[in-house]
Amino acid sequence: MKAWQISSFGVDSLEFVERPTPSPGSGEVLVRVRAISFNYRDLLMIKGLYNPKLQLPRIPCSDGAGEVAAVGEGVVAWKPGDRVAGIFMQNWLDGALTPAKARGALGGDIDGMLAEYVVLHETGLVSLPEHLSFQEAATLPCAALTAWNALAAGNLRPGANVLIQGTGGVSIFALQFARLQGARVLGISSSYEKLDRAYTLGLDAGLNYREDPEWDRWALDQTGGQGVDLVVEVGGAGTLSRSLRALRIGGVVAQVGVLSGPADPVSLPIASILHKQARIQGIYVGSRKDFEEMNKAISLAALRPVGENFPWSHARQALTRMEEATHFGKLVLTVA
Ligand SMILES: NC(=O)c1ccc[n+]([C@@H]2O[C@H](COP(=O)([O-])OP(=O)(O)OC[C@H]3O[C@@H](n4cnc5c(N)ncnc54)[C@H](OP(=O)(O)O)[C@@H]3O)[C@@H](O)[C@H]2O)c1
Repeated sequence: MKAWQISSFGVDSLEFVERPTPSPGSGEVLVRVRAISFNYRDLLMIKGLYNPKLQLPRIPCSDGAGEVAAVGEGVVAWKPGDRVAGIFMQNWLDGALTPAKARGALGGDIDGMLAEYVVLHETGLVSLPEHLSFQEAATLPCAALTAWNALAAGNLRPGANVLIQGTGGVSIFALQFARLQGARVLGISSSYEKLDRAYTLGLDAGLNYREDPEWDRWALDQTGGQGVDLVVEVGGAGTLSRSLRALRIGGVVAQVGVLSGPADPVSLPIASILHKQARIQGIYVGSRKDFEEMNKAISLAALRPVGENFPWSHARQALTRMEEATHFGKLVLTVA
């Protein structure tokens, strides 16, 4: 089979290789991968910034969707032809995360989805929402589930105010899920064109943070001085202080991302955290049970993920789009 692998770090070093097609052992399932989507984590992984000690070679990517090609002995949950996606942490099926469940992340601890075929344990898969194509469903395992759990952390009531940052994979899913919950969504972006696209998905108010970096003041103005109920924080160290200033007293910051670079502990905004009685909830994707619940909601709402498709020969070009942050929503490759 063909696969893309990290043999040495760097987007340009990503190698298109021939590998033996795996076969499923007892309790395992062979999946023919039909589409994958990139996450910012994949870019960091490929560049050696996520885990400089990553064991190489490694097939990257947590997120892929496809169909069951064959099942190993004893598998009862799946049959050939079933449409499936892999779960991000192969051992986190249900309940709270533990160190043991956190091991086995696709495209990190173990080989990922950027291959024509993968073998996964039968518990490491979920069914796809019927109305979605493989390309659409390939966007769900990491970005969508993270956004889903970020929204859940907010424990929102209809009419609540949610702030999203940027228009990447997690943030656009957060916008879509927040609208499903009847929330009002404020969004900031580097680009007016991207904000215009976000309005078509239900964004209520937007601000270009390049033109106006004081988006915390803007968010306060937008909420009558009260602040927002939930910030889906994808920027990290460079945005957390403003997020806390934009928050209402007793609000929640769902801490998801690191887009603005590594954390600087000296700048931790202690005063804002205590004055706002803020709750900062770290989010780390989610379990298989969360994924199944999210898929039910996606099916009921007939929600459609948003992204841009590339042939899989264009893996490096798609990653460059992510690096340049010129994309909107998800970047998807069709495996052929
Ligand atoms: N904790 C978890 O479980 C988890 C799961 C998924 C992702 N993440 C993290 O969440 C972050 C987003 O991931 P993603 O896959 O959605 O990324 P992505 O698709 O690459 O989105 C990046 C977008 O965010 C915006 N952006 C970039 N820098 C920004 C900044 N300093 N402030 C505000 N917006 C900024 C840009 O949009 P505009 O041009 O519109 O501004 C950019 O296109 C990453 O750090 C990723 O590692 C964490």
